[in-house]
Amino acid sequence: MKITITKKLLERYPTARFIAVVAKDFENKRSLLKLEEEKREIENTIRKLDVKEVKRIVEHSKFHKEFGKSYHLEFEFKSIKEGKNLPKLNALADILFMNEMKHFCIMSGQDMEKVSDELVFDLAKGTESLVLIGGKKQELKNDDIVLKDQDVVLISHLYGPGESTKITDKTKDVLYLFWFVEPIKDAELDEIIKDFKIYLDMVSNKDSSVEVFEVAEASDKFIVTPWDVKGNIDYDKLVRQFGTKKLDDGLMKELSMIAGEDHYFLKRKIFYSHMYFDEILKAHKKGEKFYLYTGRAPSGPVHLGHLIPWIFTKWLQEKFDATLLFQIPDEEKFLFKDNLTLDDTKRWADENILDIIAMGFDPKKTKIFLDTEYAGHMYKHACRVAKRITFSTIRSTFGFDNDRNIGEIFYTAMQSVPVILPSIMEGRKTRVLIPCAIDQDVHFRLTRDVAESLGYHKPATILCRFLPGLQGMGEEGKMSSSVESTAIFTTDDPKTVKNKILKYAFSGGRDTVEEHRRLGGNPEIDVSYQWLTFFEEDDARLEKIYTDYKSGKLLSGELKMILVDKINAFLAEHQKKREWARKNIDKFILKD
Ligand code: TRP
Repeated sequence: MKITITKKLLERYPTARFIAVVAKDFENKRSLLKLEEEKREIENTIRKLDVKEVKRIVEHSKFHKEFGKSYHLEFEFKSIKEGKNLPKLNALADILFMNEMKHFCIMSGQDMEKVSDELVFDLAKGTESLVLIGGKKQELKNDDIVLKDQDVVLISHLYGPGESTKITDKTKDVLYLFWFVEPIKDAELDEIIKDFKIYLDMVSNKDSSVEVFEVAEASDKFIVTPWDVKGNIDYDKLVRQFGTKKLDDGLMKELSMIAGEDHYFLKRKIFYSHMYFDEILKAHKKGEKFYLYTGRAPSGPVHLGHLIPWIFTKWLQEKFDATLLFQIPDEEKFLFKDNLTLDDTKRWADENILDIIAMGFDPKKTKIFLDTEYAGHMYKHACRVAKRITFSTIRSTFGFDNDRNIGEIFYTAMQSVPVILPSIMEGRKTRVLIPCAIDQDVHFRLTRDVAESLGYHKPATILCRFLPGLQGMGEEGKMSSSVESTAIFTTDDPKTVKNKILKYAFSGGRDTVEEHRRLGGNPEIDVSYQWLTFFEEDDARLEKIYTDYKSGKLLSGELKMILVDKINAFLAEHQKKREWARKNIDKFILKD
């Protein structure tokens, strides 16, 4: 079963989410005693509530209200309060109504025998119609949300399900769908689905099966916010989505000319996008100095993916003789994650600083500071920024709902401050270039909106893609410190590195040696090869690995060992410098 959401729909309703629950091989019964008992409980709970206090009914009725329609859950709610009971049709339909009224969320349930296995959530044009349950033909409205099978509408969000696919006594397989248009948090979703599974359990038999999945955007599914990077990342689309610019050949050439050498990250399009980087170069040519600024929010150990922007930052510092501000927002992950204390983030900050110093930044030109320890210098500027950003801007920029804590809402103001600090430190308007991964540009887009009105230059960014996780970009997206099998940490010893790569690195090789020799491997999807594009500086050597692998001359295990050696050589150096860093922290740290 494949269900997708059209781009049109998501553009119109960006927070829309649909969860599918495929229930197979059930036996539909007339209602069961157990269900009746549960229904009485739900009814009793409702009778104690006031509809205005039910947050989800209030928030989620917005869609219907905009069309001048009432929200049917509100209507159901009122009739139950007036003494009516939840419907008693058949078990598979009853549990849908029960779950709707327990959690106040809209659900649909279709007999799977009556639908094809490719459905689409789409925006209604207003020319469609639908025969509702009961037989009434309904003309649909423009901008309603509909579920379509080929071109036939099965369900409308405004008017409900059609007659043709309704659950009957004979139904065995059901496609249940949860329809959320207003934002819904994962934790709430989990709760709702957990309860629904309990209901399904009550009506199941030994052959029954249940599968839950979230409906994804058609063809190119991915999410990139600074806190959530998943799925197959389409980097060109990111550039379009964030409104950043591609680093074109002209700009790259100019940078190489000024630097006196090419950086392989540029040639290989690892750094591939920017905002206002052209203005930095223009100013530099006129003899104007600029600052570099980057950061790291501590929440765990540093892995190889974190180092990519830092390696490039180090190169830029060297080539432009620029002062670097390195922000450690030790409050960020404390605010955004559930299970980290400020003591934890401080401890990780101290660890992470060793990795930062180990990059080889110039101690005379590099200042590292923790937000909580440099707040005296930062706070007033954070307030100046914060005053010019509204909650509604933050809400829509990051997709927050009203349940976010106010620290999360304020956070971007803190990440903006190092854009201002160079002007304060220099005593004159000073430009800032921020090398970072592309997901961070979102913060600086907000900084840009306010910088000029505060009397500063807009911050420029130069943006890179992510190092893929060991198991590929498939499910996990970028490398994550919380998933051991996707990451190599800077403190891993040679044996651990070898084991992780041999065991986890996703291979583009063939199943057997014979087949591999005959057909060759696929470097495009091979994580070991991809990693070499980040770590093997020598173009000629990389190219040979590519052609040998593709022709079948180089086996997957051999390719992996090339990577193991490369990473271990890199880490041996890094770990040495990390030890040096322990005794030299004071040279870098800025405190109030
Ligand atoms: N938000 C970044 C993180 O999650 C940390 C950070 C702060 C940062 N300031 C920055 C990253 C500037 C890049 C550039 O790690």
